Amino acid sequence: MTFLKMPNYDIFIEEDGLSHLAKHIKEVYQFDDLFVITDQNVFDLYNEKLIQALIGYKLSFVILPPGEKSKSLDTYHQAIQTLIEKGIKRNHLILAFGGGVIGDLAGFIASTLYRGISYIQIPTTLLAQVDSSIGGKVGIDLKEGKNLIGSFYDPKFVFIDPSFLKTLSKREYNNGLAEMIKAGLIGDKKLYSYLLEHDKVTVTEITEAIQVKRNVVLIDPYDKKERMYLNFGHTFGHAIEKKHHYETYLHGEAISYGMLIALQIGIQIGETKEELYQEVKKLLLDRELVKEPLLEMDEYRDEIIHDKKNLADGLHFIIVTKPGDVKTHKLKELDIL
Ligand SMILES: NC(=O)c1ccc[n+]([C@@H]2O[C@H](COP(=O)([O-])OP(=O)(O)OC[C@H]3O[C@@H](n4cnc5c(N)ncnc54)[C@H](O)[C@@H]3O)[C@@H](O)[C@H]2O)c1
Repeated sequence: MTFLKMPNYDIFIEEDGLSHLAKHIKEVYQFDDLFVITDQNVFDLYNEKLIQALIGYKLSFVILPPGEKSKSLDTYHQAIQTLIEKGIKRNHLILAFGGGVIGDLAGFIASTLYRGISYIQIPTTLLAQVDSSIGGKVGIDLKEGKNLIGSFYDPKFVFIDPSFLKTLSKREYNNGLAEMIKAGLIGDKKLYSYLLEHDKVTVTEITEAIQVKRNVVLIDPYDKKERMYLNFGHTFGHAIEKKHHYETYLHGEAISYGMLIALQIGIQIGETKEELYQEVKKLLLDRELVKEPLLEMDEYRDEIIHDKKNLADGLHFIIVTKPGDVKTHKLKELDIL
């Protein structure tokens, strides 16, 4: 088992580790009632395994429809009503069992119900294992935009078992690979080199990707400054997701186009080499994260310029100079007009 320490919680990473979950829960929680928030897909695939791993506990399930639409105020309210009906008390424990949608929503419920209940993250998608379950950001979407309501709320621990990834569709798997490629590019040359050659990851690479995020989060827990490095490719990625109403492209696909645009800007300002752009482009094409013809910055100017908040004093843009090395560049409105 691999084990990483955050200031307030541990991250356990173990292939086929589900049989050890009960032991970890015992270390942080003294009661028998567990409240599992999950989605229908994860429930159908894994409820028996979870029940088996947690024999002796009394499990209550809140099962939500899969997909981003569940990260809403309505679902938040309905899930809380169900939890209360099922008898949740302030000193009980919530298990966020699913992808990033469940992790963000269940974490936000935990941070607000009764002014805060303990919870643990059991991420079941690659994206959730390497990204959304780490760093304590939880929240929900509004119709006005994504992640507009939320908080920073640490779990008791994060429990990562890569064997959950065996049932992920190739598209969802690759969606997580995109965040790992980003992690390699911004902070781990060795991870990036591995991902150039392999389309499957193991505990080792999942741990390396988490380490990149962890290092940044430790310096900047409340997203004031250094966490912005994690946003490599995200300025354009978010614009792409928004323009297509979060439907056409998965997050990893949108940021893949975004990373290529960011590398092109790096070339324009003399910080990034053309060879790196070509190498990353080939990798993202091979992993079916982008398709030719590539999406161009021109098509998304309105979405970016519309975000006046970002442009008020220039956009702090992340440039990769070479794999593992980043710097910020202040992109002025003129640069993208
Ligand atoms: N909090 C953060 O720091 C942070 C960071 C990045 C992303 N996010 C959020 O994460 C969300 C996206 O997460 P996601 O990509 O995991 O999406 P998701 O939770 O919607 O999961 C994707 C799909 O995979 C299914 N699934 C989950 N586990 C499975 C498994 N083991 N086998 C088969 N199918 C499985 C789900 O039912 C769903 O249909 C977004 O809402 C995003 O805003 C949060």
